[in-house]
Amino acid sequence: MSDIFPKWTNQLPAKVLMGGLLVGAATVAGTWYYFTPKYTRVGYQPIQPVSFSHAVHVDQIGLDCRYCHHAVEKSWYSNIPASSTCMNCHNQILKNDPRLALVEQSVQTGRPIAWVQIHKVPDYVYFNHSVHVRRGVSCVECHGQINTMEEVYHAQPLSMSFCLECHRDPASRLRPLEKVTDLNWKWSNDPKTAAQLQKTRGEQFVHDWAIQTSQSCSACHR
Ligand code: HEC
Ligand code: HEC
Ligand code: HEC
Ligand code: HEC
Ligand code: HEC
Repeated sequence: MSDIFPKWTNQLPAKVLMGGLLVGAATVAGTWYYFTPKYTRVGYQPIQPVSFSHAVHVDQIGLDCRYCHHAVEKSWYSNIPASSTCMNCHNQILKNDPRLALVEQSVQTGRPIAWVQIHKVPDYVYFNHSVHVRRGVSCVECHGQINTMEEVYHAQPLSMSFCLECHRDPASRLRPLEKVTDLNWKWSNDPKTAAQLQKTRGEQFVHDWAIQTSQSCSACHR
């Protein structure tokens, strides 16, 4: 076991001890990530330095996620866009608006905006965006309806059981590749037809793309 989980086994006694001590503190500090019970992460919604709205930029303006999060289908991580990306538009739109002041400042000084990271798996978990995004797993499966959020919050637990639930039966959660970033997309508006299509087409994807979702410990704990 210790070969597979060197990091957390070393931390385990400390975790057990700290867990007891931190029950009170944890309700105050949402950032006590490793120690808090899983459910407290759902709903986590820190105040961001700039009140950036996904609802405005995705559903209203119609930007694709990859316009800003362009690394998401190429690498393990999903980047947060540089302030210069915002200025593609905001050097014209809402120019000199106080809500954009920090963004302009950041471009001038070259110092990135200190966005607060919301989603994070512990260090002992291996995660990779591109393997999911390139196999028809939509952002909505793990992040919820980001396209309608005025401020991003943690919508799914991202716990081990959450990951495994899908790894056990991925067919029911796959979609055509070109719909991965279309968070409003459905197989059909009729729920019964949608469920039928999901089953037949999902199984087809598993077959055609030779999907093998691993449940073995070493897939996610390397
Ligand atoms: C115009 C640029 C832009 C577009 C388009 C965009 N985002 Fe974002 N996204 C951001 C910025 C900036 C942040 C950091 C601030 C925040 O959390 O709101 C962010 C944060 C996030 C986060 C939370 C990151 C964390 O800290 O855990 C997720 C998840 C996310 N975006 C998903 C999406 C998805 C899914 C789409 C497409 C439906 C999308 N984004 C479209 C700019 C964008
Ligand atoms: C493709 C063009 C485009 C890009 C890129 C873009 N925006 Fe916007 N943004 C807009 C438009 C259009 C509006 C709506 C303007 C209005 O309300 O009149 C807007 C509105 C806003 C507002 C006003 C708040 C609101 O809810 O309406 C803020 C703040 C903002 N953007 C921040 C950002 C940040 C930060 C980025 C980079 C992560 C960014 N924008 C990237 C086009 C863009
Ligand atoms: C299978 C689940 C899953 C899918 C699908 C998924 N994500 Fe994530 N996302 C995660 C996890 C887990 C993290 C935390 C990763 C970490 O610990 O660094 C995360 C983190 C992020 C972050 C924060 C990155 C940072 O460093 O602040 C952004 C932005 C993001 N995802 C955007 C997206 C977008 C856009 C899509 C769709 C194109 C997407 N994600 C699809 C699970 C997923
Ligand atoms: C909605 C479905 C879904 C969810 C949720 C999901 N996965 Fe996956 N995962 C997949 C699919 C599909 C693949 C691609 C398998 C393939 O290419 O054969 C995959 C592949 C992976 C791989 C690559 C495995 C390998 O053998 O290289 C890792 C690692 C992984 N997932 C970790 C995670 C973690 C960690 C979480 C939770 C934070 C998670 N997954 C949540 C569907 C999902
Ligand atoms: C599909 C990905 C995935 C697989 C496969 C997986 N895990 Fe995990 N595991 C996770 C994630 C994600 C977490 C972090 C949960 C959290 O942050 O709440 C985790 C956490 C853990 C923890 C710490 C639990 C805690 O509450 O702190 C242990 C122990 C663990 N895994 C053991 C295993 C063992 C043993 C196996 C094989 C039977 C396994 N894992 C297979 C994703 C996975």
